[in-house]
Amino acid sequence: MKRVAILISGGGSNMVKLVESMTGDHPARPVIVGSNDPQAAGLARASALGVPTFAVDHRDFRGDRAAFEAGLLGPLLAAQPDILCLAGFMRILTSEFVQQFEGRLLNIHPSLLPKYPGLHTHQRAIEAGDAEAGATVHLVTPELDAGPILGQVRVPVLPQDTAESLAARVLVQEHRLYPKVLRRFARGELSPITLTAA
Ligand code: GAR
Repeated sequence: MKRVAILISGGGSNMVKLVESMTGDHPARPVIVGSNDPQAAGLARASALGVPTFAVDHRDFRGDRAAFEAGLLGPLLAAQPDILCLAGFMRILTSEFVQQFEGRLLNIHPSLLPKYPGLHTHQRAIEAGDAEAGATVHLVTPELDAGPILGQVRVPVLPQDTAESLAARVLVQEHRLYPKVLRRFARGELSPITLTAA
């Protein structure tokens, strides 16, 4: 059975879907959920699901990324994860941190990578006049949002879409994509999958 740790920064809706998926014949189980924000709503949601949580407030480290990450690593490594999933974790990780989890660190990003790494992905897709937006689950490498793709979901952009309406429709599809990719990844399946929104 693979042990899965999850890092979040906010509401944690993807984390909830991942945790809920890891039951029965699933090859993995959640062992810990951590956040850089002690107030992140997702922490209470994880606790309610019976998953231990921790928070390391990045604001306590005044830009010292290495010290912040050392704080994260304590509880993370104690939980002995085989796989670390970033699920709406909004801090950039150093290459030293990423290398510690190389090959077993996943992220979900709300765009069809390689399009729109970074922030404001939905606004950028709308401004570019794209017919499709979506989300990508990928392996994390030191370069931001650039690691090997494990799965994507494609979502049509509607003429009346705002960044908010598009983000909401993509998020629903993220909830399908991430659990599917994690299940496959935990079984050692690395070939990318593509889903389309109904
Ligand atoms: C999700 O849309 C996720 O793709 C995005 O943050 C949201 C988190 O929502 N992640 C990023 O932008 C990472 N750069 P959630 O907390 O409800 O899962």
